[in-house]
Amino acid sequence: MPHLLTLSDLSIETINDILNKAQEIQMQNLYREPQPVITANLFFEASTRTRFSFEAAEKRLGYHVLNFSAENSSTQKGESLYDTLRTLEEVGVQAAVIRHKQDKYYEDLRDRLSLSIINGGDGCGDHPTQALLDLMTIKQEFSRFDGLTIAIIGDLRHSRVARSDAEVLTRLGARVLLSGPKAWMNETLPGEYVDIDEAVKTADVVMMLRIQHERHNQGMNLSKEDYHKQYGLTLERERLMKPGSIIMHPAPVNRGVEIADELVEAKRSRIFKQINNGVAVRMSVLEWAVNKNEEAEQYEYVAFK
Ligand code: CP
Repeated sequence: MPHLLTLSDLSIETINDILNKAQEIQMQNLYREPQPVITANLFFEASTRTRFSFEAAEKRLGYHVLNFSAENSSTQKGESLYDTLRTLEEVGVQAAVIRHKQDKYYEDLRDRLSLSIINGGDGCGDHPTQALLDLMTIKQEFSRFDGLTIAIIGDLRHSRVARSDAEVLTRLGARVLLSGPKAWMNETLPGEYVDIDEAVKTADVVMMLRIQHERHNQGMNLSKEDYHKQYGLTLERERLMKPGSIIMHPAPVNRGVEIADELVEAKRSRIFKQINNGVAVRMSVLEWAVNKNEEAEQYEYVAFK
């Protein structure tokens, strides 16, 4: 079965197929009757959106979902991730959604397992399903990527969302602007570094990033107020935005730090729309992963009553 580890592994054609299916699922409010697919969600790091939208997606697809608790699993006795997944394979699991603090935790696993690994976020590495739901949100707004300017602002060094989005948006023909504290610049990201006011003024999409405190070796040397003033989307900066441009943020949001509290649910904010799109995108990804297995039976969708 195929894995979804980073979007750079997928062709633009496959990405478009996944987005089109997600749009169809959302427009027609599709779900499936119970079917004999077993999936497992293994979260070794905290999550609200990714974890519960995968679980909602799995339930809407009629899958049987095993929720793995890292604290109560044999990983606590030193069992490796590989042996854990081999065990789940023998139990009948066909796809495993995994979030892990280690960058590229999947490298050692990808060619050794028959179940599909769906990356729910690896350290500072990638967050492919977040990028897909971001693409869905941008496409719903502008119906294209080519020629758009997307500003990604904040903790670029530690953000897996920044990496996944910058890579795929560049491939889709968007111009990516990057801005944030110098100490958190990330030379490995595709995009042009610009001053924050310039980024906010120019962009069709202003994508703010959460400060990844859990991945910093030492605390931030700025107060929350100073960070907000220098690198945040303040009320004053929002007034610089172009008509028709939108605000995005992967969430969870540090209100009043990377973005002014009042802007989180402002008219031009799509932050909660992103979360809503996450369910359809994850349904589409799961179906892509599970049904790529040539022996898998195909099941019909029905409209949710
Ligand atoms: N955006 C995102 O990945 O949120 P969670 O950490 O809550 O899953």
